[in-house]
Amino acid sequence: MISLNVPAFVQHTKLIEWVADIAKLTQPKNIQWCDGSETEYQELIQLMIANGSMQALDPETHPNSYSVLSDPTDVARVEDRTFICSEKEEDAGTTNNWQAPEIMRKTLNGLFEGCMQGRTMYVVPFSMGPMGSHIAHIGIEITDSPYVAISMRKMTRMGKAVYDVLKTDETFIPCVHSVGMPLTEGMTDVAWPCNAEKYIVHYPKSREIWSFGSGYGGNALLGKKCFALRIASVMGREQGWLAEHMLILGITNPQGKKHYVAAAFPSACGKTNFAMLIPPKTYQGWKVETVGDDIAWIKPGQDGRLYAINPEAGFFGVAPGTNVKTNPNCMATLQKDVIYTNVAVTKTGQVWWEGLTKTAPQDLINWKGQPHQGTEKAAHPNSRFTVAADQCPSIDPDWDNPQGVPISAFIFGGRRADTVPLVSEAFDWVDGVYKAATMGSETTAAAAGQQGVVRRDPFAMLPFIGYNMADYFDHWLTLGQTTKIQADANNQQLPKIFNVNWFRRDEDGSFIWPGFGENMRVLEWIIARCEGTANATDTAIGRVPCYQDINWKGSDFSQVSFEKVTTQNPTQWQKELESHGVLFEKLGDRMPKVLKQHQQKLLKQFSQTETI
Ligand code: GTP
Ligand code: SPV
Ligand code: MN
Repeated sequence: MISLNVPAFVQHTKLIEWVADIAKLTQPKNIQWCDGSETEYQELIQLMIANGSMQALDPETHPNSYSVLSDPTDVARVEDRTFICSEKEEDAGTTNNWQAPEIMRKTLNGLFEGCMQGRTMYVVPFSMGPMGSHIAHIGIEITDSPYVAISMRKMTRMGKAVYDVLKTDETFIPCVHSVGMPLTEGMTDVAWPCNAEKYIVHYPKSREIWSFGSGYGGNALLGKKCFALRIASVMGREQGWLAEHMLILGITNPQGKKHYVAAAFPSACGKTNFAMLIPPKTYQGWKVETVGDDIAWIKPGQDGRLYAINPEAGFFGVAPGTNVKTNPNCMATLQKDVIYTNVAVTKTGQVWWEGLTKTAPQDLINWKGQPHQGTEKAAHPNSRFTVAADQCPSIDPDWDNPQGVPISAFIFGGRRADTVPLVSEAFDWVDGVYKAATMGSETTAAAAGQQGVVRRDPFAMLPFIGYNMADYFDHWLTLGQTTKIQADANNQQLPKIFNVNWFRRDEDGSFIWPGFGENMRVLEWIIARCEGTANATDTAIGRVPCYQDINWKGSDFSQVSFEKVTTQNPTQWQKELESHGVLFEKLGDRMPKVLKQHQQKLLKQFSQTETI
């Protein structure tokens, strides 16, 4: 039995016992209790460089920045290997993979037994949300990956101060992670250890997370999707709050009036870019600021409004497509202290990915570590940067405020080549929940599997709801009702709900809407709708702007193009509404009736439109 070597700053008995249990099961070579210090970070970087897992970039152009290449089979989230082990199968619902908790427990015991042999076990303490905030929650991740340990330092508030918080409230979410490749006698390590067999397991009742076999992103950085979405969504339902796959941004008009909006787009559908938006030049005096780019925890405040915090402290963002034109704030964020994963690197230590510049530089080594050639991608489509949020020039002054920021509007947006218009406003809360619940989007490289196929991705949360999706819809409906009662008493409004689509395509396959900074024009209309100062026209699927309702100053986007991104084709919508029904059927008895009735009502309207 190895020595635990518990440092003085760890005094929580239950936690020490748990670490001892995991060490007994996984049999690591030694244990490192992470304190979150810069020294520790630099030591882990040096260790990874020494064992060939990491490369330092050019210190002139990329100070303190590094590149890591994963195993080619471990590049994205694995949704088909993600499990919700609720006591009853129906509590996981038909959109989650379920297994009986005790059966999964046996499987995990088998997998984790001795799985850390020959490796260091890192104990990583982290807070999701400002340390000590009443909205924040603590987690401890045990991992045998130094890459995970240093990534957690960027993505969360990580370090020994977490143990001070545990002195007053002893609860933490235990997260156990292993790359699943023990180093037994005589074995040599590889640059990116992982296992072909992967398990990403959640126990909603005991609130545990177990992850085996992958070192990548949401599979391995367990504070992110596993805790802040799947487990937190369960906690939120029980306690009356929301854990959502949403960015949060602040927008200030030239008169100094500020609104915050929260927006849900599925993975790789534009959250980071929207969160860091820079308005077009003609928007003199307007300001957009970033609170978060991926996850929001949202709670009703005393005044009846909804308040949101970003539980994360860093960005794990998609590299391809990011450049000085599409996202200058992001490029500025990446000036130093970045960990890149699966991007291409030149011989002089410069990074490159598709869309950074028009053409690839000479002497480029691709994400597989081979010379880049031909039409193969140099960077993996799901290659990413990991960077601290406070390096972002547009970071909001209140991004770290433990009280959160008040939300004026919710925006939901999928990646749709057709059918769904540029923007529409829901008639009311129920209509808004319906819109979010029936959102469809093309699949992307953020998850393993086929890409570019439209699937229903309700609330952009399909892979992230830790319980039955029908109950999740019900939770949103209920929250609307209870919040409204409070809000009315305080003469406040519930956030308005909008649907957007930046991704309509022309016959030649190109995007019609310019997107990125130009999305400001839609955002301005949304804010003006919240303030009651913009026009809209009622259609069956929502309130929409006419061409003249949008501010086109400095834009050459024509009315003809506008028609192309806003037309509602009745045949396409009939098909769309029918597919909503397929999802509702799949969700079975627990599906809220009010949403089913809404679908029937819309279907009727469209079949009438066609016969008119
Ligand atoms: P996750 O981190 O996976 O949750 O992704 P995300 O939702 O933050 O998406 P992100 O902002 O990283 O964008 C993903 C891809 O879509 C990138 O290649 C972007 O360049 C591209 N993209 C983002 N916004 C727009 C837009 O307005 N228009 C177009 N055409 N592409 C966009
Ligand atoms: C997503 O897939 O939505 C991401 C990347 O934000 S990951 O952290 O891998 O989940
Ligand atoms: Mn995401």
